[in-house]
Amino acid sequence: MRIDIISVVPDLLSGPFSHSILKRARERGLLEVNVINLRDYTTYARAQVDDYPFGGGAGMVLMIEPLVNAMEALQKETHYDEIIFLTPDGQTLNQQMANQLSLKQNLLLFCGHYKGIDQRFRDHFITCEISIGDYVLSGGELAAAVLTDAIGRLIPGVLNDESSALSDSFQDHLLAPPVYTRPETFRGWQVPEVLMSGNHKRIEDWRYEEAVRRTRERRPDLLEDKD
Ligand code: ADE
Repeated sequence: MRIDIISVVPDLLSGPFSHSILKRARERGLLEVNVINLRDYTTYARAQVDDYPFGGGAGMVLMIEPLVNAMEALQKETHYDEIIFLTPDGQTLNQQMANQLSLKQNLLLFCGHYKGIDQRFRDHFITCEISIGDYVLSGGELAAAVLTDAIGRLIPGVLNDESSALSDSFQDHLLAPPVYTRPETFRGWQVPEVLMSGNHKRIEDWRYEEAVRRTRERRPDLLEDKD
């Protein structure tokens, strides 16, 4: 899978894909992430990419020309399955959306900055608008990193233990059950006995019950959504 991210602050994205699972995915050729500087695609003086909003008001708006220039230059070599804009007024990201997107081949992500991007770009080119939650970040970069991470780890072969993504919270509309590791006793706090029993059926049943209990306590809405 290839994910291209267009940003006015590409340095913000130099870290998140260079460690741990996503680093390994890139090294194994399962995931390619390219961060592109929007300023490389402007024809305006001093690499200007934004301007004041028509009609007045606070903040700056990313201009349509550099956005289109960047997109069309990339489209010369790549067909994108989705052209995504990260924005707080998009559809809120959930595990199901990440699952769907992980099945695509090529994604192009646009990060907004300042007040937003010219609406005409959204109307005519963006195929999918995604928010990572009901709060406003100073730009779409961190949201793009979250989305790329959520998608990247689901690509087949990225996680060593293939079943591990399936037992994540939100797969199956359930939160994940609690986990424990060594030592068996710490300050008198014991690991639940069942986990030490070696009885796989009992352990599996316990985990399922704990997942349901935790979900009922913390996120009953997930159980209601279950079809
Ligand atoms: N840009 C600013 N805030 C955002 C959010 N919550 N989700 C996605 N992109 C954003």
